[in-house]
Amino acid sequence: MADRIPQHIAFIMDGNGRWALSKGLQRSIGHKYGIKALKRTFQYVFDLGIKYMSIYALSKENLKRPKEEIQTIMGLLDEYIDSSLPDLLKNKIRLNIMGDISILNDFSREKVNQALKDTASFTDRVLNIAFNYSGRDEIIRAVNLAVKEGHKELNQDILEKHLYSAGIPDPDLIIRTSGEQRISNFMLYQSAYSELYFTKTLWPDFSKKTLEAAINSYSNRHRKFGDIK
Ligand code: IPE
Ligand code: IPE
Ligand code: MG
Repeated sequence: MADRIPQHIAFIMDGNGRWALSKGLQRSIGHKYGIKALKRTFQYVFDLGIKYMSIYALSKENLKRPKEEIQTIMGLLDEYIDSSLPDLLKNKIRLNIMGDISILNDFSREKVNQALKDTASFTDRVLNIAFNYSGRDEIIRAVNLAVKEGHKELNQDILEKHLYSAGIPDPDLIIRTSGEQRISNFMLYQSAYSELYFTKTLWPDFSKKTLEAAINSYSNRHRKFGDIK
């Protein structure tokens, strides 16, 4: 395993639909297996001592999809929160949500809010879930919040305090599965200097090996942040 590991890895978990269709299954089955991949990956990431893990679970633009698919994904988030909360508590991992969860039904939204409260005191490690999220909307929301607070002019510090990711360092490494090489409105502000890794592996097939390949690639990169060193 690589010596230099990222402290924050973000995943654009793509390819659930194609994984299912390639097996003659419905897209919803792909999302179910996507959750299994997520649970495995959660374990690998935190076992490696990585402190922050972000995942793109649903984009705002995904709401264009058929209602049934969105319902399936909302149901899976609900189940995921239920089944993962004990792990978050046991390992002192704070849950953070980026996005507008008002689309959830009262019961699920309350469950998410409760999980946010139950883990709020943990400071060392974070699981950050982007749900009904748009990177552009996040920036606009942050500006509006700051203006409402009375700021007449913003700087990076003020803006960052109003992002959903406030208090979480920028992702060092963003991994996108399924062969697509784009950001699709994910963490636009935070990804300014993130290293990007694209793999053809479809998300439900994501394994420890895929993760290690990505981290190895990361560890061999030279991050300069604009400098010449
Ligand atoms: C990613 O898989 C999960 C979500 C967007 C919710 P997709 O559902 O986009 O899978 P493909 O891209 O259609 O294969
Ligand atoms: C991005 O994947 C959103 C998530 C992984 C949740 P999409 O499958 O929605 O992205 P596009 O439409 O291919 O850009
Ligand atoms: Mg996709």
